[in-house]
Amino acid sequence: GKRYTITLLPGDGIGPEVISVTKKVLNLTGSLEGIEFGFKEMPMGGAALDLTGVPLPEETLSTAKQSDAVLLGAIGGYKWDKNEKHLKPETGLLQLREGLKVFANLRPASVLPQLVDASTLKKEVAEGVDLMVVRELTGGIYFGKPRGFGTNENGEEIGFNTEVYAAYEIDRIARVAFETARKRRGKLCSVDKANVLEASMFWRRRVMAIASEYPDVELTHMYVDNAAMQLVRNPKQFDTIVTNNIFGDILSDEASMITGSIGMLPSASLGAAGPGLFEPIHGSAPDIAGQDKANPLATILSAAMLLKYGLGEEKAALRIETAVLDTLSKGFRTGDIYSEQNKLVGCKEMGEEVLKSIETKIPTT
Ligand code: NAD
Ligand code: IPM
Ligand code: MN
Repeated sequence: GKRYTITLLPGDGIGPEVISVTKKVLNLTGSLEGIEFGFKEMPMGGAALDLTGVPLPEETLSTAKQSDAVLLGAIGGYKWDKNEKHLKPETGLLQLREGLKVFANLRPASVLPQLVDASTLKKEVAEGVDLMVVRELTGGIYFGKPRGFGTNENGEEIGFNTEVYAAYEIDRIARVAFETARKRRGKLCSVDKANVLEASMFWRRRVMAIASEYPDVELTHMYVDNAAMQLVRNPKQFDTIVTNNIFGDILSDEASMITGSIGMLPSASLGAAGPGLFEPIHGSAPDIAGQDKANPLATILSAAMLLKYGLGEEKAALRIETAVLDTLSKGFRTGDIYSEQNKLVGCKEMGEEVLKSIETKIPTT
């Protein structure tokens, strides 16, 4: 059979809880599909800071680079919030994305029929939503220079960052987005702030230039403030959205709530070569950490994306997706997606139910 090495980065807060459940899901799926996973668990984020003094130890990055795919839980927490920038868990995550060169972050948000009632939007607005945010992940204001703290001409303290994109960075994320849209419903909406920001004016110009390579994809442009509003007004108008690092961060959290919970949304971060990074879009949820309350489905679905986009194991991915839907159809819900008449379960029990569904529910396609 096939064998893959997966680096597991449980991280902080609910990270270890959702990763431990997801590891079992991968093992069982693998055993049914003739795939063997070799897991390498490495410290990352706050856990790595406590253990080694840095948020991304060299050994963690080199192990990740040498593996076939990387699965991350979540990082961060109150304990490290006041650390200097280079000693923050979040800095470790940015170093990991940069180190793996995973510039394209795919964040799908679809309203599952089983979860229409969990959406905070009206049924007729939420039903049938199926969109994909393509977020640029290794550029923009997250990485732009100059950045830092200093003083202005009046001697006042300042903090500053720079939104900057080079042509090659926009071109490559635009191509990923056009390819993604082409495989979906053929509609791409580029979200920017080109009415104000030079970096966005340039973004729009490059996206329009790349569009000539994809005459079959319908391209539109939208300002980010309008996009934030349109997402809750009529989310069904969107198919694929492409946007910069920070707008993609914000809009994907917003999109997650349409689907019922941030605890449902997976992501795949891909580069031109090398292993992909797969992680739920949510954070370490310190408010519910250690209480077995976390929804593990975002991480389980991230494992499905790992199989599909990271390893090309589409059948195994479909097995997991089918099992998640089956588990929801049976009425099992963690607190974040719970409503009356459903069965309230914790993180572990949700995982156990997904395992049962994987064994009994075989995808039909
Ligand atoms: P968060 O996503 O951790 O939590 C926001 C809210 O959503 C909380 O009420 C939380 O309980 C809930 N939530 C999140 N995931 C859930 C799940 N799986 N099941 C049920 N409920 C869930 O965002 P935050 O509170 O702004 O950030 C907390 C920490 O996480 C910070 O240190 C932040 O920097 C970090 N963070 C890390 C990542 C990451 O690792 N990729 C992403 C976002 C935030
Ligand atoms: C995310 C997170 C990260 C980001 C933080 C923790 C660095 O919010 O993965 O969405 O802003 O990209
Ligand atoms: Mn985020």
